[in-house]
Amino acid sequence: LEDPQFTTTDSNAKELLENAKKLLSENQVIAIPTETVYGLASNALCSEAIQKIYVVKNRPLDNPLIIHISSLKMLKKYLLPDFIEIPKIYELVIKKFWPGPLTILLPKPESIPLEVTCNQPTVAVRFPSHPIARALISTCGFPLAAPSANASGKPSPTLASHVWTDLNSKIPLIIDGGQCNFGVESTVLDAISSKDPIILRPGGITFEALVQIPGFENLKVYNKDFIDKKLEMTPTTPGMKYRHYSPNAKVVLIDLGDDRIKSRIILKREVQRIMNGDTKKIGILLFTDNIKNIQNDLLKSKIDLNTNTLINDSDLSNNNNIIEYSLGSSIHPEQVAKELFKGLRCLDEYKVDYIVVEGISEMNEGLAVMNRLRKAASLILKE
Ligand code: TXA
Ligand code: MG
Repeated sequence: LEDPQFTTTDSNAKELLENAKKLLSENQVIAIPTETVYGLASNALCSEAIQKIYVVKNRPLDNPLIIHISSLKMLKKYLLPDFIEIPKIYELVIKKFWPGPLTILLPKPESIPLEVTCNQPTVAVRFPSHPIARALISTCGFPLAAPSANASGKPSPTLASHVWTDLNSKIPLIIDGGQCNFGVESTVLDAISSKDPIILRPGGITFEALVQIPGFENLKVYNKDFIDKKLEMTPTTPGMKYRHYSPNAKVVLIDLGDDRIKSRIILKREVQRIMNGDTKKIGILLFTDNIKNIQNDLLKSKIDLNTNTLINDSDLSNNNNIIEYSLGSSIHPEQVAKELFKGLRCLDEYKVDYIVVEGISEMNEGLAVMNRLRKAASLILKE
């Protein structure tokens, strides 16, 4: 397995990287762009630096961090002590998906501070593809521990301004790399703790892509296979028990898979129901591709709450207290993933009381989208 190459000749970039390296070498915490979401990074080898991450984010102390590397040489040097090889099962996925939005669990070596792994027997490692993240880690020469750079419990940041909103007075540097390409976090994959490999967190690399790799034919998905199908659950995912991805507004999720017409009817019904209460403002996250698929009068009409049928022509979207944000087309779940956290945060900026969201099918990136939405939601409607 060869190390992918990275070089830069840009002198401004070099100066920025040197400045960031200086801060990280002083065990400070800074925000960096990655291809998934912004990360809150510090020296992964130093307990003091790691502890600062938990303080800055207000992160629960039992939720472990991901270590970011910039080469396989770095992986060997710091995470695979003498005589220990990369577990065979990971060789093909590393070859295919690194650098990129895939995190793998490895046995935890002595050299990694306990603060990174929170007493887990494993350590999570990822090789990001974002050129700034890669260049910074390779400039530093040491791996960086980095959770998402949001205040704990909030949606992950996909723009530098999101990091600013949550953490501006708490860290000395935010490197602005523009909008993150994937928009949801990396896929966390554990292929060593139990018989079958398992996706602990769906993310940028899809189930459909991983299951095609030799050795991953029996790939499971945490929650989906272990709760839906009532199988016994073996691995633990420390982050699961905490509130996640929640904007200030209450999130109502319409969880009807890809039934676009029914989703839109339930969405309208809920919006009306909420407006009939004493709510002042509602945000709607919806898909615009449906407009041509759903009869126009459905979009422009009120719905009888008792019968779920149209009753007149008044247009809910003419109401100033309703703000719509399009997640793009539901047939492009990768685009929906990219816009998702931005949409939640954007509606929060309008100080809406509720955000009503249409769901999509769990195919491909849809699995990660629905995973995040279900965690963000305080109400999930299935009919
Ligand atoms: O895309 C990403 O993964 C981003 C960027 C910044 O790289 N990072 C990220 O980190 O999402 P964070 O801390 O927000 O999420 C890490 C997830 C948590 O759910 C945590 O519980 C899980 O990975 N995790 C970390 N180490 C683990 C371990 N040893 N065993 C099981 N789960 C682990
Ligand atoms: Mg996070």
